[in-house]
Amino acid sequence: MTVGASSTAGAHAYGDPAYWDQRYRQDPGPFDWYQKYKTLAPLLDLYLRRSHRLLLVGCGNSELGEHMIADGYQDVVNIDISSVVVEAMQKKYQDKPQLKYIKMDVRDMNSFEDGSFDAIIDKGTLDSLMCGQNAQHNATKMLEEVGRVLKDKGVYILITYGDPSYRLHLLRDLHLWNIHVHVIDRMEKSSEQKTWELTRPLPLNEDGSSVAAIIGANNEVHYIYVCIKEKSLRQDQNEGVEH
Ligand SMILES: C[S@@+](CC[C@H](N)C(=O)[O-])C[C@H]1O[C@@H](n2cnc3c(N)ncnc32)[C@H](O)[C@@H]1O
Repeated sequence: MTVGASSTAGAHAYGDPAYWDQRYRQDPGPFDWYQKYKTLAPLLDLYLRRSHRLLLVGCGNSELGEHMIADGYQDVVNIDISSVVVEAMQKKYQDKPQLKYIKMDVRDMNSFEDGSFDAIIDKGTLDSLMCGQNAQHNATKMLEEVGRVLKDKGVYILITYGDPSYRLHLLRDLHLWNIHVHVIDRMEKSSEQKTWELTRPLPLNEDGSSVAAIIGANNEVHYIYVCIKEKSLRQDQNEGVEH
């Protein structure tokens, strides 16, 4: 995760709230990690409805929420662990009732009831936890909470630099969702260069090697894991049912 102004910070820092507070104090932004709304919009259109209740986890000072409500989304709740950024965003958007900002740890969202959201968008937040200490433990806690506050059939959209060999087992271990993988170029490409069709999911086998086989090694893409919650998968897992 080397994008952004403070790329000299050690990888561990990304999992540390004090690091983010300091960063947002120094650099109020706005800044969008990885991708902006404009490039993601066709994919979001595929999975989301304008009336959906949405949660953006680890929102930072990204303009994603602002652009989403400008495009017709009506209820966008944003959380972040940094009080510095949350206070700044509350002030910035005080005249936008469709956008709410709450200071909250994504690993413990106990103020939200089970099944509160139709969709959850994560752009760079699971990645941050994966860069910190106790990465595996924190990532699992986060994903359990994401799964809990999502409605059945709701969607968790994870935008990450992590290819399936790093992310798929983590997501699948929860036995909670059906997963589609999309890819998007990291940089804008000229018209002659090969680009990926964002709205078409790639074929996904058990270990995700089917994705690498198609896009090749060292490809400059971001991966988008669209995880559709299926409560019955968890029930089947608990009851030992095989599909
Ligand atoms: C890489 S930035 C991504 C920011 C934004 N989503 C974007 O796309 O530009 C990661 C964000 O996650 C937040 N974060 C880190 N750990 C968190 C946690 N445990 N709970 C909630 N937010 C967290 C950080 O404060 C930071 O704003």
